Amino acid sequence: MGGKGEGDGKGALWGGRFEGGMAPAMVPLNLSLDVDGRLWRQDLEGSRAWARALGQAEVLTADEVEALLVGLDRVEARLAEGFPSQVADEDIHSLVERLLGEEAGDVAGKLHTGRSRNDQVATDMRLWGMEALEGMSQGVQEVMASLLELAQRSVDLVIPGYTHLQQGQPVRAAHWVLSHYWPLTRDLERLAQAREAAAVLPLGCGALAGCPFPVDREVLRDELGFHTVSENSMDTVSDRDWMADALYAGAMVGSHLSRLGEDLILFASREFGLLRIPDGFSTGSSLMPQKRNPDVAELIRGKSGRFTGNLVSLLTILKGLPTGYNRDLQEDKRLLFDTVDQLGLILPAVAGTLRGAEWNPSRANELLSEELLATDLADYLVRRGVPFRTSHEVVGRLVALSEKEGVPLSQLPLERYQAIHPTFDESVRDVFRWESSVEARKAPGGTARAAVEAQLAQARETLEAWKVGHRGNVAGD
Ligand code: ARG
Repeated sequence: MGGKGEGDGKGALWGGRFEGGMAPAMVPLNLSLDVDGRLWRQDLEGSRAWARALGQAEVLTADEVEALLVGLDRVEARLAEGFPSQVADEDIHSLVERLLGEEAGDVAGKLHTGRSRNDQVATDMRLWGMEALEGMSQGVQEVMASLLELAQRSVDLVIPGYTHLQQGQPVRAAHWVLSHYWPLTRDLERLAQAREAAAVLPLGCGALAGCPFPVDREVLRDELGFHTVSENSMDTVSDRDWMADALYAGAMVGSHLSRLGEDLILFASREFGLLRIPDGFSTGSSLMPQKRNPDVAELIRGKSGRFTGNLVSLLTILKGLPTGYNRDLQEDKRLLFDTVDQLGLILPAVAGTLRGAEWNPSRANELLSEELLATDLADYLVRRGVPFRTSHEVVGRLVALSEKEGVPLSQLPLERYQAIHPTFDESVRDVFRWESSVEARKAPGGTARAAVEAQLAQARETLEAWKVGHRGNVAGD
C-alpha cells in the first residue's frame, strides 16, 4: 500500500494555507497513526453514515453517495487485507480519506463537507469505547463465573479470616472467595454506566459550532447505535468525560483484581500454603530450580498501577484546557487502549487461575489458631448475660494466661476459667469447634452454611441477570 509524502503536511487535509513543508522536528510529533490506526473500522462506519446523511440533506447526489459508499467498501477491503505500516499519513482520518481518493476519485473530496476531525475522532472513539466496554464487562463476568465455581467447592473448608493480616475470626473459604465476587458486580455497574455515557452522538457538531447543512442527527444516532444526540457542539468536541468514567471503571477492576492477586500470592506462599495456583499460571526461576512463582498474580497487581496511571493522565490532560477541541486531547487514546488491552490480558488469566486453584485443607487446619475463637469465647459469656465489655476483658486475660503458660485456650482447666469469671462451665468446650464459630454467624452476609449458600445463590442470580442483559444494558438496547 503506497504512502504519500513524508508526513510533512504537504497534501495533508489542512495544507491550503501553508507554504513549505512541516519542520522535520514537527513531523514525528504530529503523527498519531501508530496509535489511532486501530480506529479504522469505526472511522469507516462513521464515514458511511456521514455520506448518507449528506445525501439525505441533499448536499450530495444519490450517485455521489453511492460512489462514496462503494469507495469506502473498497477501502475497508484494503485495510482488512493488511494495515499499511509504512505510510506517512498524519492520522487514521487522513489515511482513510486518502485511500478513499484512490478508490473513488474526486468525489472523495466531498465526504468531509460539514464534518471536522474533531467530531469525527470523538465519534470514532465513542464507537470503539462502547464495544470495548462491553468486552471488558464480558471479561469481568468470566472472572465472576470462575469465582462462583471456586466458591462452590469451598463451602466446607474453614480458613482463618484476616484483618491487619493478623488472624481474626474463622470463615468458610467460600466466604473469602465471594468477598472478591461482589466488588466485581459493582464494576459491572460502573462499566455499564461508562458505556451509557459513551453512547452520545458527537457527529454533526463540526469543528466546534455545529453543522451548516441540514443533516438529520437523529438518523445518524440511530444508524451508528448511539442512545442520544449531544446537546452542545462546543462541549461535544472536547467531552471526554465518558472516557474518564471508563478509565475509572477499569482502574477499579484493576484494583479489585490486584487485591485478589495479593491474597493469592500470600495464600500460595510456603508460609501460608493454603492454596495452589495451577501450573499453567505459575512460572519457574532461571536460577533456582525449586521455584514456583505466582507471576500471574504479581502481573495483575503490577498492571493495576498502570490503570490508575491512565486515569490520572487523562484527568491531568483535561484539567486546564480552554473550551473546544485542543490537540492535547489526542493523547486520550493511548490511555484507553492501554487499559482495555491490558485488562484483556488479565481477565482470562485470572479466570483460568481461579478455575485451577486448589485448596490445601490440612494446611488450612494447621493454620487455624485457637485465638481465632476469642471472640466466640466472649460471645459465650454474652449469651449468659455478661456485658460484652466485661467478657472482652475476661477473654483478654484468658488469652494472656494461655500465652504465659504456653497452654492452648481449649486445654486450660475449667478452674482457671472460673477463677477469672464464675459464669464459665463445662459447656465452654463447645466453643472450640471451628464449625460452631462459623455457624454462629447466621445473619445474612455471615459465615453460617445457610448464609453462605444463600449468598452463593444470590451471586449466581446476579451474574445470570447480567448475562441475559437485564443489568448490562442500562439503555435497553
Ligand atoms: N488526530 C486527532 C486526535 O486524535 C484528530 C483530530 C485533529 N483535529 C485537529 N483539529 N487537529 O485528536
